[in-house]
Amino acid sequence: MTPIKEVIINKKVGIKPVWIMRQAGRYLPEFREIRKINSDFIKLCLNEKLSSEITLQPLKRFDLDAAIIFSDILMIPYGLNQKVEFKKNFGPILGELDLNETSKLDEIDFVKKIYPVYKAINQVSKSPLTKNKSTIGFVGAPWTLLVYMINKQSPKQNLKNDFFKDNFLINRILIILEKFLKVHIKNQIENGAEIIQIFDSWAGLLNEKDLPNYVYIPTLNLVNFIKSLNTPVICFPRGIKNFKSYCDIVKPDAVCIDYEVDPLLIQKNIKIPIQGGMDPKVLLTDKENLKKEAKKYLDIFKDHPYIFNLGHGVLPETDPNMMDYLVKTVKDY
Ligand code: CP3
Repeated sequence: MTPIKEVIINKKVGIKPVWIMRQAGRYLPEFREIRKINSDFIKLCLNEKLSSEITLQPLKRFDLDAAIIFSDILMIPYGLNQKVEFKKNFGPILGELDLNETSKLDEIDFVKKIYPVYKAINQVSKSPLTKNKSTIGFVGAPWTLLVYMINKQSPKQNLKNDFFKDNFLINRILIILEKFLKVHIKNQIENGAEIIQIFDSWAGLLNEKDLPNYVYIPTLNLVNFIKSLNTPVICFPRGIKNFKSYCDIVKPDAVCIDYEVDPLLIQKNIKIPIQGGMDPKVLLTDKENLKKEAKKYLDIFKDHPYIFNLGHGVLPETDPNMMDYLVKTVKDY
């Protein structure tokens, strides 16, 4: 069994597997080389030769325990025929959503549109570079995808005032998302994804009272589906205040914490395997501080099933040498 699965399934302590969110990406010069000549990000995700190569880039450099497939949570709205573009120094921009069109879409059309993602997972999972490592598939949580599909860009700090005005629209989107997220998850697993991570990057925008409707119930639905496929699921509800309630209700196999979570408190309150936590900005400081901060997490989770990761994605301005130092620090612990 791979080290990450040992932690998640067997609750093994004393081993500290490591992978990093956004480990394949802009901080790597070899990624920027490919990106420079592939200006269309979606097309790049749909080029299975390049996307599998990009997925494996960080594994060639660092002793990581997982490959996370190079794709994006916004491949779902794209697959549902909503236009998705990535503008430099701005982020994603989505087009109008025509729900009448989207409602007509069937599973076959959807899978056809994003099929190269599954082919890439298949190639990655069969690569010698992923031997004894986990191939991680992922989806955006229904709430976070809803945010992008309605807001049409990253919400930064707040949702628009009229975000919730069309309750009927919201509920229709959530029903469609549930159906196609399940299709996407199933296809990733059938093609070699051994673990699924659910990214709920905008969970923190909601008030406590709205969490059940938009986060707990839709996510629990997916978690149960993933479990029914005998696959471990890691949830990352970024920015929420109460991880304990989230874990009690949603019951993921492991939970990924963000950098605002107090690791000491969480270690005491949560029994399931924990992942992540360290602030990605620590990688922008110096080696001494990096070692100190990484050790803080490793010490706190010494007797807890723990997967080392950051509290959000690695920043584009990160020096790859710092990443190397971090992975070595974790491995030498
Ligand atoms: O290495 C990996 O982690 C796998 C690949 C991956 C990407 N996006 C590639 C990517 C994963 C797991 C994601 C998830 C994702 N995408 C999330 C959830 C995690 C999070 O960061 O909160 C979200 C919210 C998105 C949506 C998204 N995609 C945004 C907001 C942006 C633009 C801002 C940014 O960080 O660049 C993207 C683009 C994107 N996705 C890039 C990469 C490598 C950069 C593309 C480029 O080269 O310009």
